[in-house]
Amino acid sequence: MTTENNDILFGNGDELPSNHSTNPHIQDVISAGRRKVVVGGAALGAMAFLGAAIPGLARAAEPSAQGLKDLPFRRRTRLPFSPVAVTRADAITVPAGYSATTFIPWGTPITGSYPTWMEDASNSAEDQAQQVGMHHDGMHFFPMNAKLGGRQSDHGLLVLNHEYIQAPLLHPNGPTVVDGKRVDVDEVRKEINAHGVSVVEIRRGPSGDWSVLPTARNRRITGATPMRIEGPARGHALMRTRYSPSGTSTRGTLNNCANGHTPWGTYLTCEENWAGYFATADSDLPRELSRYGVRGSGRYGWETVAGDEFERFNASHIATDPQADYRNEPNTFGWIVEIDPFDPNSTPVKHTALGRFAHEGLVFAPVRPGRPVVCYSGDDSQNEYIYKYVSRDRYRPQRSDGRLLDEGTLYVARFNTDGSGDWLALDHADPAFQRACEAAGVQFADQGEVLINTRLAADVVGATKMDRPEWGAVNPDSGEVYFTLTNNSGRKETDASNPRAPNAFGHIIRWREASRDFAGTRFNWDIYLLAGPQDNSRGPKGRALDESNIMASPDGLWFDDEGRLWIQTDMSGSQLRSGPFGNNQMLVSDPRTGETKRFLVGPQGAEVTGITATPDFRTLFVNIQHPGEDSTATNYTSTWPDGPGRRPRSATVIVTRDDGKRLM
Ligand code: FEO
Ligand code: CA
Ligand code: CA
Repeated sequence: MTTENNDILFGNGDELPSNHSTNPHIQDVISAGRRKVVVGGAALGAMAFLGAAIPGLARAAEPSAQGLKDLPFRRRTRLPFSPVAVTRADAITVPAGYSATTFIPWGTPITGSYPTWMEDASNSAEDQAQQVGMHHDGMHFFPMNAKLGGRQSDHGLLVLNHEYIQAPLLHPNGPTVVDGKRVDVDEVRKEINAHGVSVVEIRRGPSGDWSVLPTARNRRITGATPMRIEGPARGHALMRTRYSPSGTSTRGTLNNCANGHTPWGTYLTCEENWAGYFATADSDLPRELSRYGVRGSGRYGWETVAGDEFERFNASHIATDPQADYRNEPNTFGWIVEIDPFDPNSTPVKHTALGRFAHEGLVFAPVRPGRPVVCYSGDDSQNEYIYKYVSRDRYRPQRSDGRLLDEGTLYVARFNTDGSGDWLALDHADPAFQRACEAAGVQFADQGEVLINTRLAADVVGATKMDRPEWGAVNPDSGEVYFTLTNNSGRKETDASNPRAPNAFGHIIRWREASRDFAGTRFNWDIYLLAGPQDNSRGPKGRALDESNIMASPDGLWFDDEGRLWIQTDMSGSQLRSGPFGNNQMLVSDPRTGETKRFLVGPQGAEVTGITATPDFRTLFVNIQHPGEDSTATNYTSTWPDGPGRRPRSATVIVTRDDGKRLM
């Protein structure tokens, strides 16, 4: 091994900023006097609230030059509950009339020999590969008949991500490190197996209680599961490794944050802060590593263990030939991964046409037969970008599949000061892209190289640097796309779409595609809300947030079928410990009226992230990640969900209404 490994951090894995590109914040060229915060509400004067319910896109309001007009407003509240107060209780708090029940916590056996969860964390690596992974994140409920377009609500597959691990809690006494090296092979293998995705077949009984069914569909996908590479970067010289000299496959998916699901009934898991898993001892790093922040030691020191399954985390030049070492292994991460949850023998696919970056999630625009599919993804790092993909081929119900994600155009967003926006193609065959490359003095040999270096390609075309793009969601009423920008402590200068510097509290931006053409290249945008305390926030109607809805660091985002926006927060550090916001929380906001209320507060030190529901909307699934985030092997800062003295565990919670009716 050639790397120095004195610095294994076992941290939570948010990456250091790595956008040192010189492309300006586009609005930096606009004089300060002309800067304007384009915000839903205040800056718009009168928002246009029009009338009765809208049956779909056809009657959505046209965007105006000042911002997006809002949709019709019904006087009866669509949030029929009393908001939950800010709290630091080590519990799940939901409104009166609702209940929250813990489900499939880390360690729940789901497959193989169904190894019993051991409270002292003494389960082996092999056990962990048959149990629910650690640190639940993005999630989707697939009705059992989803592939036929069905909406069965009492039986389905719950598929969820496991973003990262807390090594102090994963092992009985924390991780073993000797002289800066990992020495226990089973420990490291267990860490790799605690990552990835769980597929769990579940059923709702007559009393409304959910249980795990012990079927062959249950599956763990881990940081070691073989995966196929598809799209323009398949077989590229920069994808060739000792494991796959042809550059067509790799092992595992890591740091799976938010998610997506396709119109054809498959799950998408998104590789976010993967760069920190790799080590390099090289000093002169290629752009496909340096622009992503691969540097020094691996976060968990996996590369310090002998054996091919671990040496692949060392991206140093060791051999003379890239097919004889793992210098290119990091290039096989940073992708969107498609999993067919209904076929437990299927090989997951990394779709390179969707770009390589710190993918938070992927959200589809509404699909229409005979039209391309369109989806959106944010790159969650300070001053990174928001992307859109438009398939080359058209969507055909019951016939289309993942191949739609292998041929298409990747665009990156530029948010203009006047509330308009442009989608800029990252297409090697596009003359405008070639001109931008020439002007910047940057060369790409082919589209595969563009995609492997997606961030650099986006720098070249002058994309707008954003305040950490997280989840996206599409309003089923209007077709407007909402994205969270969680915060950006590193922002020095404001621009119209990122109006606070530094941005400690985050905001939610939204846009509407021009002419309602999701595949087009023009859009209009405004800011839906500025998160923060009462004296530094702006809600959807232009008023400050109040005690019923103050929030910070919005992250998870989801629209229910009736057009309510659910917002989940990911505060950390002092904001979580001493801010006015209490523990991380989930709120509901009605874009028709601007009404926004806190619905759920998580336990101490936890992030609330991941949300899905049954089609009948009688069961809501929400994930609670890293309760007791600062815990050590001997000192638990939360004991949720198992209670006093017991090791905290990430888990799903099932939220229902006590009268058994629809949640809202
Ligand atoms: Fe994994 Fe961007 O949160
Ligand atoms: Ca997130
Ligand atoms: Ca986050």
